[in-house]
Amino acid sequence: MPITYLDKTKTFKLDTPNTTYMFRIVDDEGFILHLYYGRRLTDENIDDLARIEEPPFVPSKNNRDRGSFMDCAPFEYPGHGLGDYRDDAFSVINEEGYSATSINYKSYKILPGKPKLPGLPATFANTNKNIEQSSDKQNSICNTLEITAEDSANGLEIILSYSVFEDVDAIARSVRVRNTGKYQNIKLTKVLSASYEFYGDDYDTIFMHGTWARERNIDREHLGYGKHYVSSTRGESSHQEHPFIALLSSDANEDYGDVYGFSFVYSGNFIAQAERSQFDNVRVTMGISPVDFCWNLKAGEEFCTPEVISVYSDAGLGKMSRNFHDLYRNHLIRSPYKDMKRPILINNWEATYFNFDTEKLISIAQKASQLGIELLVMDDGWFGHRDNDSSSLGDWYVNENKLKGGLKYLVDEVNKLGMKFGIWMEPEMISPDSDLYRAHPDWAIQIPGRTPVMSREQYVLDLTRQDVRDYTFSQMEKILKSANIEYLKWDMNRQLTDLGSALLGAESMGELYHRYCLGVYELQERLITEFPNLLLENCSGGGARFDPGMLYYSPQIWTSDDMDPVERLKIHEGTALVYPLSTMGAHVCDCPNHSTGRTTPFETRGYVALSGTFGYELDVTRIPEADRNMIPSQIKMYHRYNDLVRSGDYYRVASYRENHEWDCWEVVSKDKSEALVTVINVIGRVNYKSRLVKLKGLDPDKIYSLKVFNMETAAEDEEFLRLRGDALMYAGINVKGIYHGDFKGRLIHLNEVTVQ
Ligand code: DGJ
Repeated sequence: MPITYLDKTKTFKLDTPNTTYMFRIVDDEGFILHLYYGRRLTDENIDDLARIEEPPFVPSKNNRDRGSFMDCAPFEYPGHGLGDYRDDAFSVINEEGYSATSINYKSYKILPGKPKLPGLPATFANTNKNIEQSSDKQNSICNTLEITAEDSANGLEIILSYSVFEDVDAIARSVRVRNTGKYQNIKLTKVLSASYEFYGDDYDTIFMHGTWARERNIDREHLGYGKHYVSSTRGESSHQEHPFIALLSSDANEDYGDVYGFSFVYSGNFIAQAERSQFDNVRVTMGISPVDFCWNLKAGEEFCTPEVISVYSDAGLGKMSRNFHDLYRNHLIRSPYKDMKRPILINNWEATYFNFDTEKLISIAQKASQLGIELLVMDDGWFGHRDNDSSSLGDWYVNENKLKGGLKYLVDEVNKLGMKFGIWMEPEMISPDSDLYRAHPDWAIQIPGRTPVMSREQYVLDLTRQDVRDYTFSQMEKILKSANIEYLKWDMNRQLTDLGSALLGAESMGELYHRYCLGVYELQERLITEFPNLLLENCSGGGARFDPGMLYYSPQIWTSDDMDPVERLKIHEGTALVYPLSTMGAHVCDCPNHSTGRTTPFETRGYVALSGTFGYELDVTRIPEADRNMIPSQIKMYHRYNDLVRSGDYYRVASYRENHEWDCWEVVSKDKSEALVTVINVIGRVNYKSRLVKLKGLDPDKIYSLKVFNMETAAEDEEFLRLRGDALMYAGINVKGIYHGDFKGRLIHLNEVTVQ
């Protein structure tokens, strides 16, 4: 049973395959105190870890020092203003102006499966392909514990939800707050999704930070005293900071040590914080950022938070990542494309920018189809009078000056070449220079009397409004139904400012950020319901909304506008810390690269793009002949290895981010019969020996045959080595011949050999 309640000690025990999470109810007031999170336990008698038999003692024994108890007890969900000076998870303003909250246990229930979170993306119990929520509880491999607590002074019920997965080491937590009517309205000023308690003075944290074209850099620090956090108040999860935090033992590395990973299934403002307090209690909190958040909860209403996923690994960061990958592949992404090879696309953005017409796109498609590319994506610039980025967002009608004959003509022509067609839209935006803005200036998020902050010469549509969402959806629907469009890139190129909505009113303006995010989710849900076979790729000025929330709607997300393969090594490492390779939009770029000005071998650009969804973003009619001639080989490479890349276990072997010289990653099939190793030598070295690479994740007892993929022949060379898994992992192999010159790469394919 993954969830057990021990009546004697009022203890709850949650077990995943390899982990245990425990907390208990103490004292007459029903404090909910954390006991343990870590390696799976068979013994459950650890209630002593709540330390209630030690000074300052629980209030029923020592009310004189209640404040001291409050300030050190390991609360499962800490309230506000009643003596716990560490950061809280929950605060309000009630009708009398009081902000304090307390969370006191009332009851529990255990539910089969995992209830949906209304209007929000969330993991689901059933792994049946593409079935979001188990109607057949028999198939469910997840159970949910709901703890109902109360804050009677505020007339609130707080439901702490824990969903425990049986096939992966992950627990999903979220919170619901219900106004039971003591007050007609309570303002929720902070409702985090989860809080976790640890104890110790030797933890590190990992956060991820970045900027446009440099997303998700890994930043590891020793956890000192005080609060350490990342957050976004930009209205999206952002390029700058990421809704993820890892807490790890300071000796943990890729393959060794205790690691706790926390990932927030949300695409808007967030906070992810670790706080080390006076007694070396460590509190990790995560949820919607309280900045500019104020939600009115009327009597009888309920507010539901997004969920946080926690993963524990006893074997370093690599195992944590693989847990997240399995969870997100099997329990979050719903798209029918999830387990499918995605069509190899060619996107015209860096090929033409805004300078294209029907003829140009068809010429790209003609060449691309001859080479084996399967999908043409027409990016920004096809609508209104958009010849640069300063107009027309919101005017979703085809610019027939560019697309002579219209959209359907173009799509039909592309289809005739045997290619699919995809389109770009930025549905959340409105240009001041657009018919839409001229007709509905109040549809933009802005504050009357202030000059709105422009970004990329555009404003954000007020998606908190149903009328704006309905209009936006109708425009998208019209375009998508006007031709055989099989792919949509949903872009979002600016962050929110000027928080003002013409309809929300003074009382509810603090709901804008979250309502905006809910509005985006509603639109995406309508889209995938109406167009279930559409391949949706989310994007936000590159990777500013690469988060688990978006994966609920789209199986892939554009990872970064920087496609330089060297820069991508770091970006992919950070992204794959949490997200499966199957989700990472990756293209072979033009050279010199438009972001870095760097020239890299075409071959290497392909190896790096292979670790994501794989596609091209260049003018295939104009690139050097030799590069173009390599495309059919790269396409064979993709078809040969993508099943493995998409569904296998990912291992980081060497990190260019750390060693500044080379990178290596490996994908191993679930049954360990096959593996693909990619080695990229970034900087050439003079007089250099072969490099020793110790492989990972293989079966020590299996014998493997090793072959190199040869780009010239588009096939694998003869076997160059045959070794048992133990030798490959513990002794390693010498990788030769890629050290003269910069940016060289190699693919090594391992296959199990059955010896008669
Ligand atoms: C930002 C995206 O990340 C790019 O790929 C491209 O679609 C541009 N927007 C178009 O404006």
